Amino acid sequence: MNPKSFYRRIEGELIELENSSLLREVPDLDYGAAKELIFKGRKLLNLSSNDYLGLAEDERLVHASVAAVKKYGCGSAASRLVTGNFGMYDELEKELARFKEQDDSMLFTSGYAANLAIIDSFAGRHSIVFSDKLNHASILDGIRLSGARHVRYRHNDLKHLKSRMESVKDAENKILITDTIFSMDGDSALLEEIADLCDFYDTMLVIDEAHAEGVFGQGRGIAHERGLAGRVDLHMGAFSKGFGSLGGAVSGRRELVSYLRNKGRSFIFSTALPPAVVGANLAAIRLVAENSSRGERLLKISRELKGYLESCGFNCGDSESQIIPVILGDNVSALAARDRLIEEGIYAAAIRPPTVPQGTARLRLSMRADLTDDDLQKIKNAFAGLKAGRI
Ligand SMILES: Cc1ncc(COP(=O)(O)O)c(C=O)c1O
Repeated sequence: MNPKSFYRRIEGELIELENSSLLREVPDLDYGAAKELIFKGRKLLNLSSNDYLGLAEDERLVHASVAAVKKYGCGSAASRLVTGNFGMYDELEKELARFKEQDDSMLFTSGYAANLAIIDSFAGRHSIVFSDKLNHASILDGIRLSGARHVRYRHNDLKHLKSRMESVKDAENKILITDTIFSMDGDSALLEEIADLCDFYDTMLVIDEAHAEGVFGQGRGIAHERGLAGRVDLHMGAFSKGFGSLGGAVSGRRELVSYLRNKGRSFIFSTALPPAVVGANLAAIRLVAENSSRGERLLKISRELKGYLESCGFNCGDSESQIIPVILGDNVSALAARDRLIEEGIYAAAIRPPTVPQGTARLRLSMRADLTDDDLQKIKNAFAGLKAGRI
């Protein structure tokens, strides 16, 4: 037995996680990005990826990625500020800024790194950061890193937010950050009212459009869809979801982006994305800009499926997007439902605490624009069977 006592503590914690059905394990997938993934040798309909537009396998992205590798090699070999920069990276930032109708944009190696940099750069120990209770973990981690005072408000509860803003109204540096589409619930932030409050309380407004880009607002996100882009100070987004690739991005006024280039530690002290990824990102953004209606069909089929699931008696929360939660409550039920759907040829991830609040374990359905009518029927049949206890 290992003499160091921390091994026993760690083992104990792992056993506790397993006993509460909370132990996380990497699933046994041979290939998980396509519409049909391969799980333990079986082909299953993939309702778990964030590749909402089915771009991860698109020929044009693949071609652009391969061309970039052939031209520039595999690695960027340094951070952007040293030598890890290529003409293509600047081109992508310019195109993204144009697409988002902002002065400037900058790339990060991930959406996670972008959120860390934004909050750590613009907030410090004497700042206040208002954050929706259901914001993504990277936002929470950014606030922790910055040392700012974290003022959480109840999910989409404007009365609560207002009272919290009022209680610290004299603080000097205030930032509000919110997901626009919430990743585990698929509902949206009340952005117009939030923008009003941020104006009134002299607060910087930052939005995370990771799950809205590619889908809403002709691919630009919720702020554009609702005509609010000009009222948002910083627009964070990610190439890892609707754009089918990888990387985070921030767009906004020139001086804010310039400040971020100077202060963002996850940008300054980390190697730049590899050329293959940047090539794919450029192709993805051009594709979405040229064909901005892909998101519309996705939202239409998502609304239809949500209606069907509710008619069967499932609780799909307040989803308004391509992310449809099927909230089942306890962890064991969520895992059992996932396993039963696998038997029916469908892969839908079971999401459990701490990713979602206690007692709200769920299947999280990520709809894709390339689902056919037959696929949709298969999903409906599987859920009808699940409800009836037949599967
Ligand atoms: C709302 C939100 N923001 C940020 C991220 C992080 O993005 P990435 O996966 O590119 O690191 C995610 C990822 O799931 C997310 O859901």
